[in-house]
Amino acid sequence: MDEKKELLILAIESSCDETAAAVVRNGRDVLSNVIFSQIDLHTVYGGVVPEIASRKHIEKINQVVEEALSRAGVALRRMDAIAVTYGPGLVGALLVGVSFAKALSFATGIPLIGVHHIEGHISANYIENKDLEPPFVCLVASGGHSHLVVVKDYGEYEIIGRTRDDAAGEAFDKVARAIGLGYPGGPKIDKLSREGNPEAIHFPRAKVSENEYDFSFSGLKSAVLNYLNSCQMKGEPVNAADVAASFQKAVIEVLVEHSLHAVQAYGFHKFAIAGGVASNTSLRAAFEAVCRKRQIQFYHPSPVLCTDNAAMIGAAGYYEYLKGVRSGYDLNAVPNLKLGER
Ligand code: KG4
Ligand code: ZN
Repeated sequence: MDEKKELLILAIESSCDETAAAVVRNGRDVLSNVIFSQIDLHTVYGGVVPEIASRKHIEKINQVVEEALSRAGVALRRMDAIAVTYGPGLVGALLVGVSFAKALSFATGIPLIGVHHIEGHISANYIENKDLEPPFVCLVASGGHSHLVVVKDYGEYEIIGRTRDDAAGEAFDKVARAIGLGYPGGPKIDKLSREGNPEAIHFPRAKVSENEYDFSFSGLKSAVLNYLNSCQMKGEPVNAADVAASFQKAVIEVLVEHSLHAVQAYGFHKFAIAGGVASNTSLRAAFEAVCRKRQIQFYHPSPVLCTDNAAMIGAAGYYEYLKGVRSGYDLNAVPNLKLGER
């Protein structure tokens, strides 16, 4: 690929409840990564309220972008492109970032690049792993998606497995709510699990017969809810830490088993994880151990680059830029955008 010596991208992300902006040099070098998290605002409602998310994005976006530029110490006019998440995500939330990026691009003449959010999550792996290049297999596990993806080349993907129902992060959030931990559930279950016994309760591991790489987490979530109900009916105390640890173990086992199966079946020696759930400490340890044993190179972003951020959008935007991708001012938010589609 034709690489200019220094290519700067201003990246913007607003697909859910994080207002984020970053400046990324040559796709892998993060000069700034500013994230304003709205989590506290949504916690009282037990989940993200789309209308509140959009309003807060509007309030914060200007400040977050200015801060990203100032922390990077580079003027806006020096940017080679403005990359922005245009889907998938909450439509009102996406529109804030997309409109802001379009206005900035129109006012400055800096090219605009619409970026797929999941492509961003996958590309987060390039930032701290300078040696990582496609092809490799990536497990994307976030609040909205659970995909097993073959990354054939930069920007070229084949989804070989997906969830049939709940995403892994969604299951974490729902189970956390049921055991009274609140939102967001993933980090809370992660923490509480350290005090629990993962062998205490056996929850089912669902197999999807039509596609060996597909996932299903709704049965597991229902099994946890049934367990909690039955304890309540029998007047038995619930050990929340044991429930959390046993549930988490069941999710991790399924994710590890399917992923490793795919890596071996496709003959790859490189495997990466991405998305909010990829910041789970037990999941990282489980993949680390199994990959080491099978001599598979294991890649994972730092936790802050696993959950939503704009640096990952800058990394993905860079490779789109090199391929000549440019978006017009008709770029729109696409809430159900499929990976690999434009
Ligand atoms: O990638 P992300 O920030 O946003 C989406 O694109 O969805 O993922 C958020 C999801 C939430 O469901 C959250 O509970 C989960 O990732 N999550 C975790 C952890 N940190 C975040 N799940 C398990 N363990 C964690 N440590
Ligand atoms: Zn995300």
